[in-house]
Amino acid sequence: MYIMKKTTEINMVRAFLNFIEIKDKYTKGHCQRVAKYSMLIGEKMKLGENDLRQLKYAALLHDIGKIGIPKDILKKKERLHEREYEIIKKHSEIGYEIICKIDFLRTSSEILLQHHERIDGRGYPSCLNGNSISILAKIISVADSYDAMTSKRIYKDNVLSKKAATEELRINSGTQFDPKIVDVFSNIIKSN
Ligand SMILES: [Fe+2]
Repeated sequence: MYIMKKTTEINMVRAFLNFIEIKDKYTKGHCQRVAKYSMLIGEKMKLGENDLRQLKYAALLHDIGKIGIPKDILKKKERLHEREYEIIKKHSEIGYEIICKIDFLRTSSEILLQHHERIDGRGYPSCLNGNSISILAKIISVADSYDAMTSKRIYKDNVLSKKAATEELRINSGTQFDPKIVDVFSNIIKSN
């Protein structure tokens, strides 16, 4: 069986990230920060080497499905209509479709598919809850939301401080986010 070298894997993941950049410059930097936060959490939670690798790839590619979302919706400054929001929500499934056929990204594709699920079952696309969501997807969810709150985006002017953003994670701990992951991440942010 042909085994792909890790350097080849990471080069392929980088190539996918470059596709994202062509569509939307902001998203690439966001994905890199989400990967950095996710790895800090994963290492603190003492995940195994294989889980950490899949976590890194899934975090780097979590928004790759935005390639399939029309630019005018992706870059809209005004509030999205319900119909447009439904289109944006498709990015998890589109991302899954893009990478699920690639052997070394199969596990990552399943994690990516779940990165907008919530532990109270009110997420998308499958309304999964609690333990039915992969722990790796739950890590990306916390890292993704933190970066969205602490960095500037085209459709919002307010950037939260580290403290305000971790407080926001805490408020949504147990409904949107896994409480253990919020605890681990809050401690990481506090000590940095
Ligand atoms: Fe996303």
